[in-house]
Amino acid sequence: MTMSETVLARMLTARQALVAADIDGSALDARLLMQAATGLSHEVLVASPDAKLTADAAESFSAFLDRRLAHEPISRILGTREFYGRDFLVTPAVLDPRGDTEALIGLVLDLPRLNHGRLIDIGTGSGAIAVTLLAEMLSYTGVAVDLSADALHIAKTNALANGVSGRLQFHQGSWFEGITEKFDLIVSNPPYIPHGDIDGLGAEVRNFDPHLALDGGADGLFAYRALASGARLRLTAEGVIALEIGAGQEADVMRIFVSHGFSPLGQRKDLGGHLRAVSFG
Ligand SMILES: C[S@@+](CC[C@H](N)C(=O)[O-])C[C@H]1O[C@@H](n2cnc3c(N)ncnc32)[C@H](O)[C@@H]1O
Repeated sequence: MTMSETVLARMLTARQALVAADIDGSALDARLLMQAATGLSHEVLVASPDAKLTADAAESFSAFLDRRLAHEPISRILGTREFYGRDFLVTPAVLDPRGDTEALIGLVLDLPRLNHGRLIDIGTGSGAIAVTLLAEMLSYTGVAVDLSADALHIAKTNALANGVSGRLQFHQGSWFEGITEKFDLIVSNPPYIPHGDIDGLGAEVRNFDPHLALDGGADGLFAYRALASGARLRLTAEGVIALEIGAGQEADVMRIFVSHGFSPLGQRKDLGGHLRAVSFG
């Protein structure tokens, strides 16, 4: 690499390296990393492929590319992820919010809405679910819970950045521990990967998402049992609990909630065709 290399030439060699490392989406990744390294917008990059890379930008780009070649997700390198049309800060303390979780948002937004409701998001991580729902449901207020203080710090930052911090409180605890209030809506995307499956996950997940956000115990259902046993006490009479589930977990999650006296209300598939979100009342 020389100082006189153009942004286009550098992106092309980066693409080849990404393809050789079996990383999908190499063109987009190379472009996003170049935008971050140069500070240039997509439009400017496209319009000026012959622009020369400065030494600083070339160094930043190489450092970003090395991280991507080590399978670090692009959102973690850039420190931000778009979720339901809004930007969320992402750090090592939080799960990288997934597109699949937008199925849960869709399911909740289709529920009958109260004029002034209260919601609680258990295992809020980056705050993606709580912040999105409050941004979409302007008459609602809520509480975001996580066991991780570091995650709650990021959720607070995301609430502020997305204009809902005045309607969202934060609580550190395990599941419903310390929560005595009743809510109109409980939402959760809990950890649901069976413990023994974590080592077999792709490097982008296994090495970069916090294991606290993934590990659902021996059968992956630990969190659903905790949520089912604590939810009734924290729901109003007409209250609803809406959950993300792992692919193929619907029968088990249904059995757990029905055994705690809940009735199934609705369900939503993700874009991959897996049943991804379920609700009970
Ligand atoms: C799958 S992540 C979901 C994060 C975020 N809600 C999202 O959808 O992107 C699960 C979250 O649950 C949190 N968590 C794990 N065990 C918990 C517990 N016992 N009580 C509360 N939160 C917990 C993790 O720290 C993590 O933030």
